[in-house]
This record gives sequence, structure tokens and C-alpha cells, in this order.
Amino acid sequence: MDFKLTEEHEMIRQAARDFANNELKPGVIERDENEEFPKEQIKKLGELGFMGMMASPDYGGGGMDTVSYVLAMEELSKIDASASVVVSVNNSLVCWGLDTYGSEEQKKKYLSKLTTGEKIGAFCLSEPEAGSDATSQKTTAIDMGDHYVINGTKNWITNGNSASVYLVIAHTDKDKKHRGINAFIMEKNMEGFVVGPKERKMGIRGSDTHSLTFNDVKVPKENRIGEDGFGFKFAMKTLAGGRIGIAAQALGIAAGAYELAKSYSKIRKAFGTEIMNHQAIAFKLADMHTSIEAARHMVMKAAWDKDNGLNYDLSGAMAKLYASQVAMDVTIEAVQVHGGNGYVREYHVERMMRDAKITQIYEGTSEIQKIVISRSILAD
Ligand code: CAA
Ligand code: FAD
Repeated sequence: MDFKLTEEHEMIRQAARDFANNELKPGVIERDENEEFPKEQIKKLGELGFMGMMASPDYGGGGMDTVSYVLAMEELSKIDASASVVVSVNNSLVCWGLDTYGSEEQKKKYLSKLTTGEKIGAFCLSEPEAGSDATSQKTTAIDMGDHYVINGTKNWITNGNSASVYLVIAHTDKDKKHRGINAFIMEKNMEGFVVGPKERKMGIRGSDTHSLTFNDVKVPKENRIGEDGFGFKFAMKTLAGGRIGIAAQALGIAAGAYELAKSYSKIRKAFGTEIMNHQAIAFKLADMHTSIEAARHMVMKAAWDKDNGLNYDLSGAMAKLYASQVAMDVTIEAVQVHGGNGYVREYHVERMMRDAKITQIYEGTSEIQKIVISRSILAD
């Protein structure tokens, strides 16, 4: 067993850490307040190779492993979870899905622009009446020979307006249930593709979340991903990896809040001494550090499973379930360590507490992770 990172991993982590501190930190409070998408920052992340880290170099990707990806996700999320969700969706859902299951033509046309950040991608599974219960999709794609006609509504779509390439899950044959579901590549400029208003959110307010409506959108047949009926498996397999990315995001939010709380405890004085000298505060920091370290091991193990060709459905779901709970617990305690200052914007931890909550909801709620985990452990 070897817990040591390679030199390359260390370099990637340092590059992400530098970017987060130099490029994301300035303006992070204002972007949250103004619900402003980090457009310039995402462009730079693309130029630096952070938007298609695991994708094949043949299509502009970095050809890196999942461990590198989660190291970068942790560092970016320590500072700005709104930016890191954009990175996460583009890398682990859109680029990975296309790289792994897309045709040569699809990769040439779409992937090579998504890996460089020239275009941003979105992953569209959820609907008003199909969130956790993802097989009860209502969006339809009717086979018209050389093209499909797509009708329906997706909601909660991250990068909803800033994206231009969308992976959309739709029913082609409702009688076949989940085996009659397909995945399609859609473009924003297709006729009948309508972006709805932006959601007003509790956290990750710098990311743009929209509903999308498709009114008789014609999608060429060559834009279907994989064999007919592969769409639900495509979504599940892609999400299994995506959940490792969100687990790393949760880990980063927790680690960022912990670092701020630790620093603050060393400078803030109460009752004639720095608050770190009160055992109640020191024990909070001890608990935070321990749970973050446990979450980091779980995230790394899931990434390692994926990199080594092992099944990562279970380890990824456990990592997301645990790390997202740690993100919630640690950010709440980080606010507490800051006292009144924790409740105001300039100290960052109140934003982190708001940002942490989403990690228990998207890419499968905590309850859904428990379904995945329990089915897996009870199967043998
Ligand atoms: N890999 C491959 N196939 C899988 C799979 C996996 N990990 N999980 C399920 N499947 C397959 C099953 O094998 C089955 O196919 P067969 O019958 O052909 O074998 C099919 O999918 C249906 O599986 P289930 O019977 O288990 O389906 P279910 O209706 O019980 O639902 C579920 C399973 C795990 C609850 C699933 O519906 C689910 O994951 N729900 C949550 C949805 C979700 O995570 N949404 C996230 C949206 S994206 C997002 O949120 C992005 C963002 O915020 C940034
Ligand atoms: P519901 O499914 O209605 O669940 C409500 C509650 O019931 C939850 O607590 C849930 O855990 C619980 N529940 C449901 N079924 C069960 C069960 N069988 N057992 C126990 N408890 C259960 N989706 C996308 O496709 N793409 C995106 O890019 C995307 N980005 C998002 C960004 C944000 C900010 C948000 C808020 C959501 C995003 N989503 C996205 C949607 C997200 O994945 C869903 O919100 C999530 O899967 C839950 O679905 P739901 O909201 O319909 O909740």
C-alpha cells in the first residue's frame, strides 16, 4: 500500500491551489452576491487544461488519472464551489461521457472543444417529475429516420445558459421503460431549444442553473450516444464517476472552511487568550480534521478504484455520502468558531456553509447514495 502522491500529482495539486488563490479568491464574495458566472476564470481553467483533465489527448484532453482530477477539484472547491461545479460537470459528466461512449465523429466535433474550455457542456437528466426517480423521464425523442424530434423539459441544469453543448436523456420507447431511454447531444442554437430563467439559489450562486424546454427540436441521428436503448446505462455509468467529483468538491469545501477556522482560532482572543486555547474550540478543530482526513481517504480510494479498473459504484457513492455530510458538519462548526464574524460575508465561511448543502442533493441525494450502497452490499 502506498499513500504517497506522485510528483506529477503534487504538481497538479499545486497548480490548482495557485489558480484558486490567485484567480478564484479575488471576487468570490462578489460573484456569490451578484449570482455572477465565473466566465473569465473558466476560460483560463480551460487554457490551463483543467476542463478536460481525464479526456484523451487525441481530443485536447489531459489524459490524466482520476486521482489528479480529484486533487484539482479539492483545491478549487476550497475557494470557490461555484467554479468547481462547472469544472466537475464539464470533466466528469460531459467530457468523460463523450470520451468513453461517443463516436469518433462526436468526439472530433464536440469533445475537442469541450476539453479546452472553448465550449462548456451540460448534463441533462433531471426533470420536474423525475429527479431521484430518474427512469420516470417524460422527455420524448421520436425516431424520424435520419433524425429524432425531441420534446420535453429538463430542470436544474448546471451551466444551463453558459453551456452550448448538452447531453440530454430522453425516452424513445416508453413501453421498454429504462431500456427505451437514449442520450443525445444537443446544441443551444438548435431550433426549438429554449433556456428558461435562472434559478435563485441558496448556494453555489455563481453557477447558473436553468430549466430547458425542447419544442420539436430536430436532432440528427448521429447525435445519439451509443446503441439504441443505452441512454439510461450511459447516465448511470457517467454519474458513478461524477459522484467522485462531487465528493471531492464536498471535501474541498470542508477543508477550506477548516483551514479558515484554524487560522481564526489562532488570532481571535477571548478571556485573555487565543480561542484555540479553549478546549471546546480545539476539540472542534480536532473533529473537523479527523473527519476531513477520513473523507479524503474515501475520495482517493474511489478515484483509485476507477483508475485501476475496479468497480467504483460503491466506493464513489460512499465517498459522496460521507464527504457531503462532512462538508455540512465542518462548515457549520467553522461558522461557530468564527462567532459573529462567521455570520457575515467577508469571512467566507457562511458562503461555504450555504455551498456545502448542495453536495447532499445533486448527482443523487444522500438517500439515493444509500440506495446504491445498500443494494451493492446486499447483492452478495
Ligand atoms: N452502472 C450501469 N448500469 C446501472 C447502474 C450503474 N451504476 N445503476 C443502475 N444501472 C442499470 C441497471 O442495471 C438497470 O438496467 P438493467 O435492467 O438493464 O440491468 C437500470 O439501470 C435500472 O436500474 P435500477 O432498477 O436500479 O433503477 P431504479 O429506478 O431503481 O433507480 C437509482 C436507480 C440509483 C435510484 C437511479 O435512478 C439514480 O441514480 N437516481 C438519482 C439520479 C441522479 O443522480 N441524478 C443526478 C442528475 S445530474 C446532476 O445532478 C449534476 C449536478 O448536479 C451537477
Ligand atoms: P426528489 O427526487 O423529489 O426527492 C425529494 C426527497 O425525497 C429527497 O430528500 C430524496 O432523497 C427523497 N427521496 C426520493 N426518492 C426516495 C427513495 N426512493 N427513498 C428515500 N428517499 C427518497 N440535474 C441534472 O440532470 N443536471 C444538472 O446539471 C443538475 N444540476 C443541479 C444543480 C442544482 C443547484 C440543483 C439543486 C439540482 C441539480 N440537478 C441537476 C438536479 C438534482 O440532481 C436533483 O435535484 C436530485 O437528483 C434530486 O431530485 P429532486 O430534486 O427531484 O428531488
